[in-house]
Amino acid sequence: MRFILAKDATDVSQRAYDFIRKSILQNPSLILGLATGSTPLELYKLMISDHKRGNLSYKKVKTINLDEYVGLPEGHPQSYRYFMDNNLFNHIDIDKNNTKVPRGNAINLDKECEEYSSFVSTNRPDIQILGIGSNGHIAFNEPGTSFNSSTHIVKLKDSTIKDNARFFENESEVPQQAITMGIKDIMSAKMIILLATGSSKAEALYRAIKGPITEDCPASILQTHPNTVILGDHTSSFWIRVNREPE
Ligand code: F6R
Repeated sequence: MRFILAKDATDVSQRAYDFIRKSILQNPSLILGLATGSTPLELYKLMISDHKRGNLSYKKVKTINLDEYVGLPEGHPQSYRYFMDNNLFNHIDIDKNNTKVPRGNAINLDKECEEYSSFVSTNRPDIQILGIGSNGHIAFNEPGTSFNSSTHIVKLKDSTIKDNARFFENESEVPQQAITMGIKDIMSAKMIILLATGSSKAEALYRAIKGPITEDCPASILQTHPNTVILGDHTSSFWIRVNREPE
């Protein structure tokens, strides 16, 4: 695991983009694992602006997203499919048939989970982009999730529902369940880039990087991944910089 202390959120995004750009130039058919949430938004803006300048094509790139709320139709403005279309896919030259997001409204969710894991195992992401939850979650793998998990349905923790309520009219509208790649699926990526910005991530980031490898902090498993880069800004890296456990 390599930790890079970036200047600020813009620098975090720029550095993540540099990895992606270089990798796509080397391999135009790259498989890119993507995340939703606020953290990667600036990265997606960079991808769009550089594409619009004619510098990078996504024609052959394939993407696989981490997760989706259960029960929201694809066109719902808070669905992760909608998020990806609006914040990235609609603005670059990617073939939408090459973009995969779990179907949270599939009739048979168990089958969807099985098929998603099997898809990931045959299409291992070359680069997987991750954010981190303030409780250390990655994708929707909440504390306590088995490190051996494949794609599954989760009941969201109250802390995650609270964190995500800002995107909905009110907290009661946040779905209670999600479909998420499991930790085993995520760890199958050839390279993982985790982005962390803002002080609300400081404790989780410390635990992920310096804490024990424990299912209580799902992101701590990344310490065992052979090619993980963690990009943190100054505020998210507070406890790491002072080299002391959060109180
Ligand atoms: C989203 C996802 C989540 C987020 C995490 C951080 O696809 O997998 O694990 O990465 O909740 O969210 P933000 O970036 O909104 O702080």
